[in-house]
Amino acid sequence: MILQILSINNFRNFSSKKFYFDRRTAITGINGSGKTSIVEAIYYFTNLKSFRTTNDKKVLMIGKDNFLLNIEGERENQKFSMGIMYNDNKKLISINGKRTNRLSEAFGFFISVIFSTYDKLLSDKPAIYRRKFIDRIISTVDPLYFENLIEYFSILKKRNFVLKNDGDKKLLDVYTQQLSQRSVYIYEKRLEFLIYFEDILNQLYELVFEKKQLVKVKYFSSKDSGDYKEYILYERLKKIFPQENEKKRTLLGPHLDDFLISVDNKPISDFGSEGEKTLLGTTLKIAEINIIYENVGEYPVVLIDDAFSELDILKIEKLLKIFDNFPQIIITYPKKWDMIKNYTMIDLDKS
Ligand SMILES: Nc1ncnc2c1ncn2[C@@H]1O[C@H](COP(=O)(O)OP(=O)(O)O)[C@@H](O)[C@H]1O
Ligand SMILES: [Mg+2]
Repeated sequence: MILQILSINNFRNFSSKKFYFDRRTAITGINGSGKTSIVEAIYYFTNLKSFRTTNDKKVLMIGKDNFLLNIEGERENQKFSMGIMYNDNKKLISINGKRTNRLSEAFGFFISVIFSTYDKLLSDKPAIYRRKFIDRIISTVDPLYFENLIEYFSILKKRNFVLKNDGDKKLLDVYTQQLSQRSVYIYEKRLEFLIYFEDILNQLYELVFEKKQLVKVKYFSSKDSGDYKEYILYERLKKIFPQENEKKRTLLGPHLDDFLISVDNKPISDFGSEGEKTLLGTTLKIAEINIIYENVGEYPVVLIDDAFSELDILKIEKLLKIFDNFPQIIITYPKKWDMIKNYTMIDLDKS
């Protein structure tokens, strides 16, 4: 996957701008010049939303009512284009000039992976970052998973609405059944994926840390740490109705599950330094790139946004060596760095 051109209109601080990318491109500029906004715009085509906010309105240039993003590049040696237009709270997406009707058509078309300062949150406490992380990877390689997930969350929303408003018990029962059915595929795919993930993480850890360490990845289910096949979620949800009725929301299911990673039997949430957490987050992302390559047959475009500021020079150099294999890298960096060599420069202070 190669990105060649990004056109950007009314997005963050850019009213109208066009950027050209090489296999190795470095974006620099003073604070607030728009470095992150450029990779944010690129990543929009992968995630169909920002990596900094879930609110599309926040990226819309203040005072404007629509933004427009376009990219051109090469995929499997063929030229492609993709556009995203945001207007009136709605996003219209087109691929090669044709409107897409479903999100699942657009998701997984332009594949990129972003390294950012958010990565260290993957090893910190909130489970939601890890859940989003695995959901995104599996969705990229399995469109059926993505469709299941969308359905699951739409049923969950309706079910929570009924719980919240003491709604019709029969309707609640229908949603409980639907939710339980959708859970099985999501759960099974996550389990399958985590075994594979554990394997890749073990290989990467040895590369980055230059010694063998035992990385374990364990699925942590909100359903009694149990299995969604053995007892059907449906029965469990019925049993806990009194609690749900009190809390007014769904208390079990894949939307509350987590996965726990340990290195040499030490849970990663106990990892000390910010540097260690960053390094772990980075390793998880490199695993993501490998998984995509093995499943899709193409490397994603690698985006790096201020991700390594907490690492020492030696580690950064080692990481950049691993990154050498990737066909395209777009990196933002502060001006004082002199580590970036052989990169085409975009200097936002000069344009
Ligand atoms: N919705 C918006 N409309 C206009 N400007 C914005 C919007 N959101 C952020 N900005 C501005 O965009 C600029 C670029 O931010 P950012 O991309 O984070 O810069 P950098 O990564 O180079 O430090 C900042 O000055 C910020 O205030
Ligand atoms: Mg920035």
